[in-house]
Amino acid sequence: MNIIIRPYKERDRSTVRRISYETSDRGEQNRPIFSDRDVLADVLTRYYTDFEPQSLCVAEYAGSVIGYLSGCMDPTRYKMMVVLRVIPAAIFRAIINGAFWRRETWSLFGAFRRTWFKGGFSRNVSDEEYPVHLHINILGDFRGQQIGKKLMEHFLQQARSAGVHGVHARVRENNVQAICFFERVGFREVGAQTFFLPNGVGFRVRKTLIFGLRL
Ligand SMILES: CC(C)(COP(=O)(O)OP(=O)(O)OC[C@H]1O[C@@H](n2cnc3c(N)ncnc32)[C@H](O)[C@@H]1OP(=O)(O)O)[C@@H](O)C(=O)NCCC(=O)NCCS
Repeated sequence: MNIIIRPYKERDRSTVRRISYETSDRGEQNRPIFSDRDVLADVLTRYYTDFEPQSLCVAEYAGSVIGYLSGCMDPTRYKMMVVLRVIPAAIFRAIINGAFWRRETWSLFGAFRRTWFKGGFSRNVSDEEYPVHLHINILGDFRGQQIGKKLMEHFLQQARSAGVHGVHARVRENNVQAICFFERVGFREVGAQTFFLPNGVGFRVRKTLIFGLRL
């Protein structure tokens, strides 16, 4: 397969957004955690496409983007932009789209609030040791063909050149494929986080494992 790994370009934006919601929640189903695709894509990708595109790389096959790796080299700027720009814009879009008034939105808010109170959004990974974070997403039909590995090599090379000494990624504890992937490319488990998702009128508890790599 002739796969090209290259830096992100503005024309890739809509495809990257589509891949993000198609591969969300482990990517095993076409049933994302939130039904408004635009709002979900805003939350998952907007920081990377709009505020740090230079740390985003894509995999292209036959002229189409089939996967991407989005990174953040500056955690302080990330927090600021997410709080001041990404989340407010996503809420605004949810209001415009009518999603804000749906029950699933308020259930999700409830789950976030519970996660917050239980300390689930605390860092749980050392900023000094692993300052950079990344997400990697490949369309289902293209997995298991070394594309993830190539994207990771590209990104790690870029991170090393920028003088970065540690990166990390978050993976759901039941995402066996991704866990095997991160271990195979040299990461090791360095932390864990508990979070909540809506489940009818209650919540289900989920765990995220944090994988880190020192460069
Ligand atoms: C995780 C993911 C990025 C891996 O990408 P990929 O292109 O399928 O992985 P690769 O083909 O490059 O595999 C690299 C190594 O990972 C391991 N691996 C990949 N898929 C695996 C699987 N299903 N089972 C076991 N090991 C696996 C293998 O050891 C493989 O190396 P090898 O083929 O030399 O043995 C991809 O599955 C994906 O996009 N998943 C959905 C989104 C997601 O969960 N992202 C991670 C959270 S940020």
